This record gives sequence, structure tokens and C-alpha cells, in this order.
Amino acid sequence: MTEQPDGTDRGKYAAAKAALDFIKPGMKVGLGTGSTAAWFVQLLAQRVNNEGLDIVGVPTSTRTRDLADSLNIPLTTLEEAEWLDVTVDGADEFDANLNLIKGGGGALLQEKIVASASNQMVVISDSSKQVETLGAFPLPVEVVKFGWRSTESTIEEVLEGADVGNKRISLREADGAAYVTDEAHYILDLHLERIGEPRRLAEALNRIPGVVETGLFVLMADTVLVGYDDGDVHTYDRDRGDLGRRRVHMPSENSLYVPGA
Ligand code: A5P
Repeated sequence: MTEQPDGTDRGKYAAAKAALDFIKPGMKVGLGTGSTAAWFVQLLAQRVNNEGLDIVGVPTSTRTRDLADSLNIPLTTLEEAEWLDVTVDGADEFDANLNLIKGGGGALLQEKIVASASNQMVVISDSSKQVETLGAFPLPVEVVKFGWRSTESTIEEVLEGADVGNKRISLREADGAAYVTDEAHYILDLHLERIGEPRRLAEALNRIPGVVETGLFVLMADTVLVGYDDGDVHTYDRDRGDLGRRRVHMPSENSLYVPGA
């Protein structure tokens, strides 16, 4: 985060800032993974360090743990915390029902476990992630390494009977080798283009031995905050619907990337 911000970054920043309103003293807070969640972690750290906000964070990845730790946010583990008040995380796509695709950053398993153990899940996003139908973003599926090719074949069979636009699958790679998650699994990316029935697909994939979790978050997000580059933030609530826009204060372009600004 050292380059000049573009509109997308400003949107992410605005959404992250609006999410601070959901954090109250004494809360146990799930900290998501990704560039949008990283803004939230930075802004939360300012509240903790400058205003003495008393919270404890539970990170959803090693990356987020390292970031939050470097910013002196008090941290604990999910084992220790057991139950969280709220989790704030990004998304790769979300639809009008607030169903999500997550896991572009590879942390979907911990993200889903942490969100499931939270009273509330608040999703922060720029407007580019808002879609009519999920699926343009490849759906990540975390699989056990053992027999992953057989698991892939079974996923192919499931896709044959699913309401999707395309069926291509690729093994996620990083630095020329298979990408390995924090939990030591592989990720298969499903290039589906369109997911007609997210819940049905998630259930079918979860029944396959070898599939650990999918990046489909169905009926998990309570609120989605969509940030725009002018500082407007649109709130969508799963129960109350479209709650309209409000504006958060945006720092100057130059101070956006200075921690503590
Ligand atoms: C991490 O595994 C993902 O679920 C991220 O939350 C998601 O990919 C959003 O990332 P960005 O905020 O970087 O777009």
C-alpha cells in the first residue's frame, strides 16, 4: 500500500471506515483478509492506539495476524475467544441477497470459520464487487492435498448437473508451484461464469469427500458496506434491505497511505 490510491482504493477505504461504527468497546472482533480488510485493520489500529479503544482481534490468516500485530492491536485466537461479536471482512463478489464469493486471497476457510463464530458479519467492498449473479469471479474451493485429482473429478461431475455457465477448473498456483493455504490444503478455482443456485451448489460441493470448504458464503453476511471514491458508503442489510447512502470523511490523497493519518 505504498502507491497512490485509485478510485477503487478510496472506495475500499470509505467502506472500511464506515465499518468502524460497528465496533464498540469490549468487543471481540474477527479481522478479515485482503486489501479492503487491511484498510479496516489499519483504521481500527488508529482507534486502539490513539483513542484507547478496548477490543481484541481474531485474525483470519497469518497475513492479517502479522499486520494487526505490527499495528499493536491486541490479538487472541478463536480457540481462546470461542465466540465473537462481529467480523469485518472483504469479498470478491456479492449479490442482491448478500451472498458472497470469497477466497481470492486464499483465506476462505479461516474466514468462514471466524464469520460463523460471530454474532454479526459486516462485509466491506468497493462497488466493483457488486454483481447481479455470482460467478464471474472464479469460485475457490479448498481441498485436501491427498487425492486432490480425484476430488477435482468428483467436482467436475457435480458441475455437470449444476446450474452454472461454465465448468473449467484450475489448481491455484503461486511462484510456479501449487498454492498452499494456511491450513496446508490446495485451492481449486472453479471458472463458472454464472452460479444460478449458490446455496444448492455450496451444499453439493460440501458433500464431496476431499472438499474442505467453498468460497460461497450463503446467508452469512448481515451487512454489506459499499464504498465509493467520494466517500459515500451504501449500506445493504440482510433483514432491513437497502439502507441508502451516507458519507464518511476522507483524508487527502497524500495522507490516505500514511498509517495514523
Ligand atoms: C481473502 O481470502 C478473500 O476472501 C478476500 O476477503 C477477498 O478476496 C477480498 O479481497 P480484496 O479486499 O483484496 O479485494
